[in-house]
Amino acid sequence: MDFGMKNRLSRLFDRESERAVWLAIDHGYFLGPVSKLEDPAKTIKPLVPFTDALMLTRGILRTSVDASMEVPFILRVSGGNSIVGPALSNEGIQTSMEEAIRLNASAVAMSIYVGTEHEHQTLLNLGKLVDEGQRYGMPVLAVTAVGKELEKRDARYLSLCCRIAAEIGANAVKTYYCEDFEKIVKSCPVPVVVAGGPKLDTELDALKLAHDAVKQGARGVDMGRNIWQSPKAVGMIKAIASIVHDGASVKEAGKLLK
Ligand code: 5RP
Repeated sequence: MDFGMKNRLSRLFDRESERAVWLAIDHGYFLGPVSKLEDPAKTIKPLVPFTDALMLTRGILRTSVDASMEVPFILRVSGGNSIVGPALSNEGIQTSMEEAIRLNASAVAMSIYVGTEHEHQTLLNLGKLVDEGQRYGMPVLAVTAVGKELEKRDARYLSLCCRIAAEIGANAVKTYYCEDFEKIVKSCPVPVVVAGGPKLDTELDALKLAHDAVKQGARGVDMGRNIWQSPKAVGMIKAIASIVHDGASVKEAGKLLK
């Protein structure tokens, strides 16, 4: 692996644990102003010290993030869809590699929609993004999106998606946690991180998700709503970090919730 690619990837993982707590705040690219992310600057400011990287769009980066901050970021570059449009899977690339480099991104991220009418276009888009990423030393994170079909989140489907993403050349894959998650990790040759998905009933449920995912081989989390939609958002991210980086149990991590 060339220096640029290696260097960018190394920024995204904690040096000691070699794992990652990424804070996903890219939801607005198709959901608009989701609850608790109406004012992204206000939401993320207290959370930034506890994250290894932010995942966001260029619009929120430019308007809501202090350019002197030291935390790296993963730039969401796919889009072209909306929650009120005809198909969430109908994504293209909406931010160029040149822009990602100008903004000093440490990686770019895009969604693939396996098994949908737009499977072909999203997989070819991933291939093109990986080609460009290889040319410029920019890691590519593939997100195995399910749109509104949350019931698709099982090990058989997600292992198919993750493996396809890795075969096409993604440097890391973000997917959902599910029963038999270990199977997904074992058949995916690049690091797998987990999303949180819609807000769970309790904070402890989200901590358990992170705990079980890491125990089964996830390299960390790329979590959004279960952190910043919690009334204990700072406690949540500290608790998640203790699980991911320090191997804390759910009970130990729960003590950090305030
Ligand atoms: C949307 C995304 C989100 O970043 C992802 O779903 C993570 O956030 P959450 O933990 O809220 O699910 O990629 O497509």
